[in-house]
Amino acid sequence: MAYYNSLLCFCILYFTFNFNTIITQGIGHVPAVIVFGDSLVDVGNNNHLELSILKSNFPHNGIDYPNRKATGRYSNGKNAADFFSENLGLTKTAPPYLSIKSAPNKVKVLLEQGGINFASGGAGIFNETTKLFKQSISLNEQITYFRTVHGELMQQLGTVQAQTYLAQSVFLIAIGSNDILDKFQAVDSILGNEPAGDQFINSMIIILKSKLKTIYNLGARKFAVVGLGLIGCCPRLRSDNPTGECNERANHWSVKYNKAVKSLLQELKEELTDIHYSLINTYDIMVDFIQQPAHYGFTEIKSACCGGGKFRAQVPCLPIAVYCKNRRDHIFWDLYHPTEAAAKIIMNELFVGTEKYVYPANLKQLLEI
Ligand SMILES: *[C@@H]1O[C@H](CO)[C@@H](O)[C@H](O)[C@H]1NC(C)=O
Repeated sequence: MAYYNSLLCFCILYFTFNFNTIITQGIGHVPAVIVFGDSLVDVGNNNHLELSILKSNFPHNGIDYPNRKATGRYSNGKNAADFFSENLGLTKTAPPYLSIKSAPNKVKVLLEQGGINFASGGAGIFNETTKLFKQSISLNEQITYFRTVHGELMQQLGTVQAQTYLAQSVFLIAIGSNDILDKFQAVDSILGNEPAGDQFINSMIIILKSKLKTIYNLGARKFAVVGLGLIGCCPRLRSDNPTGECNERANHWSVKYNKAVKSLLQELKEELTDIHYSLINTYDIMVDFIQQPAHYGFTEIKSACCGGGKFRAQVPCLPIAVYCKNRRDHIFWDLYHPTEAAAKIIMNELFVGTEKYVYPANLKQLLEI
C-alpha cells in the first residue's frame, strides 16, 4: 500500500513538474499552438483519411524537408504551421490530431509536443467544401475533435489549470480558400454575380464567426488568423485563364472576404472583450511578392515549381511530375500552395510585420499584452 502511495505521489509530482516546464516554453509563455484550417497548415492529418485523394505524402512533396520526407505537408519543405511554432520558440511543430487520436493519453502528447493540429487539406468553412466522399475534415469536425481533447485536458489538469493553459496558447486559423476555390471552379459559378457572391461571402463569415465563438467558449483567448492570399494568381487559376493572367474575379472575392473577416474580428473583440488577435494580410504580402519579387528573393512568380503543363499547374505535383531545381526562387510549390520560402516570409510578417501586413498588431506585440 505504501509502495502504491509513493508511486502515485511520484506520478503526480512528475506530472506537475512537467506541466510547469512546459508552460514557460516559447515567447510570451505560449505553451501550445492549436491549429485549425486547410492544406496551408495541414501537417499530415489527411494521411489518415483512407478514402481521401487529397494527400501529399508522396514525392516530390517534402523534397526540402529533413530527410526529404513527404510528411503530408503540401510544400517542398516546411509549411506555415511549422514556422508558426518555430517563431513562438516552441521546439516542435504541433502534431496532426489523427496521428495521436488513438494515443493512450492525448493530453500528455499535447503538453509534450506543444499543441495539436486539426487542419486538413481541402477543408472549408462550409461542411460541404471538399467533403464529398470523406476527402477532408471540415472546420466543424475539426472543432468536434478539439472538444474531445478539451474534455480530457479539463479532466487531467483540472479546470483552472486547463483554462490557463488554453488562454496562454495561440489558436492559428487558416481556412476559407477552398470554399472560394470550390465555387470558382464550378461551371456555373455563382461568384460571377455580385449579389449572390456577396451572399456567399456573408454566409462564410456568419459560420466562421460562430465557429470562432465556439473555440472561444472552449477556452481560446489568443487567435492568429490567416487572411486569404492572392487566390486568383495561383498557378492553377492562371493556367485556366487563356491570357495567363491572374483570375481577377477570384482576387476580387478574396479581397471582399478579407475585409469581412477584419470586421468580424473587430466585432468579436467588442462582444467578447477578452480576446486578442492578429490578422495576417497574406493578400497584400503576395501582391508585393509579385510586384517586387527580387526584394524577396523570387524570380519565378507565375509558375508552380512542381507539376505539369501550362505553369506546371495542369497536372498536380505527382511523383511523375517535373520540379524546379531552385525552390527558393519560386513563390508557388504546386498548383495551389506556396513554397517553404514564401510561407516563411508570410509567417515572419505575422510575428514582426508592420500594420500594412498585420492587424491590429503583430503576434509579438499581441503576446506582450
Ligand atoms: C455542419 O454539420 C454539423 C454536424 O452535422 C451541423 O451541426 C452544422 O449545423 C452544420 N453547419 C452548417 C453551416 O450547415
